Amino acid sequence: MQNPSNRPLLVLVGACATVALLAACASLGSPKDQQSASLLWQKIDGHRQWGFFDSHVGIEDGHGPHGKFVATFLSASAHANQAKPPFGSILVKENYTKNDASALDSFTVMQRIEGYDPENGDWFWARFTPAGKLTHSGKVAMCFDCHFDADGDDFVFLND
Ligand code: HEC
Repeated sequence: MQNPSNRPLLVLVGACATVALLAACASLGSPKDQQSASLLWQKIDGHRQWGFFDSHVGIEDGHGPHGKFVATFLSASAHANQAKPPFGSILVKENYTKNDASALDSFTVMQRIEGYDPENGDWFWARFTPAGKLTHSGKVAMCFDCHFDADGDDFVFLND
């Protein structure tokens, strides 16, 4: 893992260090971000029919703060370009407290939008409760400060 600019991993020491606290640290974003997030919620309807990373299929052990178990779904363009998801890609991570579909805790979503945030891979970040209530959206520093550590400058871990 490279961290050339030595960006401090404050997320690891802050109050938002664990996913259990993500909801408490809500970061709803600007009104425009919230509007984009509600469109995004519609776009991810049916994401369980989408593909997985070839190397990460189905519900598996979580290796980060997302939850004990996770499943990550890729929109068609991301699935076709897993090494470098192109603009328009959507990645949906389902976060579970147990390896049991009834233990769904939240959806964390990344959408790549050209020009949205070039410094941070042009990703729009969002988190929803299982019922679709938005808790985070937009340029969520807590998300990208950690994802910055992913290899390949794409802020995506599972293709490293
Ligand atoms: C402290 C580090 C950390 C924070 C904070 C974090 N993530 Fe992640 N995220 C990871 C790691 C590690 C993975 C890959 C391992 C896994 O799936 O558990 C990951 C995976 C993902 C994935 C699947 C794509 C990928 O990068 O592999 C999505 C989507 C995602 N996170 C969204 C979010 C969103 C949205 C937020 C903020 C609400 C967020 N993450 C906050 C560490 C973090």
